Amino acid sequence: MNVGIIGAGHIAEKAATTLGAMDDMHCLAIGSRTLEKAQAFAQRFSIPRAYGSYEELFADPDVELVYIATPHSCHFAQARDAILAGKPCLVEKSFMLNATEAAAILALAREKGVFVAEAMWPRYMPVREIGRELIASGVIGESRMVSASIAYNVSEKERVLTPELGGGALLDLGVYVLNFVRMYFDSPIEKINTTCIKAPSGVDATEDITLVLADGTLCSLQASAWCQGGNEAVIAGTTGYLVFDDLIHPTRISVCRKRHIVERVVELPPQITGFEYQFRACRDAIVAGVLEAPQMPHSEILYVMHLMDRLRAEWGLAI
Ligand SMILES: NC(=O)c1ccc[n+]([C@@H]2O[C@H](COP(=O)([O-])OP(=O)(O)OC[C@H]3O[C@@H](n4cnc5c(N)ncnc54)[C@H](OP(=O)(O)O)[C@@H]3O)[C@@H](O)[C@H]2O)c1
Repeated sequence: MNVGIIGAGHIAEKAATTLGAMDDMHCLAIGSRTLEKAQAFAQRFSIPRAYGSYEELFADPDVELVYIATPHSCHFAQARDAILAGKPCLVEKSFMLNATEAAAILALAREKGVFVAEAMWPRYMPVREIGRELIASGVIGESRMVSASIAYNVSEKERVLTPELGGGALLDLGVYVLNFVRMYFDSPIEKINTTCIKAPSGVDATEDITLVLADGTLCSLQASAWCQGGNEAVIAGTTGYLVFDDLIHPTRISVCRKRHIVERVVELPPQITGFEYQFRACRDAIVAGVLEAPQMPHSEILYVMHLMDRLRAEWGLAI
């Protein structure tokens, strides 16, 4: 399957590296706002076609999947244009700026019969099934508590600092801790307590989110775009706990029964970068003729977008 990437920025490089190492998928084209940038990117990653606009890439009949790798504020218009051109899309997280935009894109994709998914990459990795099986096996008893935090100091990045580009920690990083809970727990969220510290530009810099699920699980979550953290996640049960060494890019899950005594370590399969799973999931869904990826159904995309709207409303931020 031929992939076209739009936005020759940071994450596009990782996607191009991943696709370059895959046997079954291929990066055919890069689209940038300037032709020079597209050509330089294409040369670096041996991509056959370079376009000086996103529209030209959408018009390429050989592109079978568009990967949207631009700031959050751009996702809506670009996904809309790609869908109207009939191109299946994988949109970087956060899917859109808010639930209103997300609902409109999902409705348009349904109406036009075009596949669309969110690149919430841990959802597509083997870790999800392995983690769920461990929980279901009873190895930690009954799950009662989750603690997960993610922190990267990306406070110098323009798209993170700028409210108009959909900046802030929640859309960039908080979306991962919310998805972590939703990946391992089917119980709906009953109660939310939250607070955030804002950056001088007005975006949310660091946040604390406590969720209480209907089954009584308490989830204590933090996200920050203003400091560096270890990104570990723990699911604690009545008789033990699971430690995910990294909640977005896990390499192992440790099963612990007593404090710091590791009973078993489940190593996750070797990866290229971890992005290959989301690309393959899109390909499989498109080949099967379905409009959404089972790993990240549209209902889940929308649920998390609504949740993030609610959090930003609590913090007094524009939605
Ligand atoms: N999955 C992950 O691990 C991961 C990690 C980081 C970021 N992301 C997500 O990936 C997306 C892009 O993040 P990034 O860190 O790659 O961003 P970035 O390095 O700032 O690059 C974004 C690219 O988008 C294009 N763009 C289009 N309109 C723009 C505008 N108005 N301002 C700035 N750039 C514009 C630019 O490419 P051209 O100039 O070539 O058009 C730019 O290079 C976001 O949704 C982010 O949340 C995902």
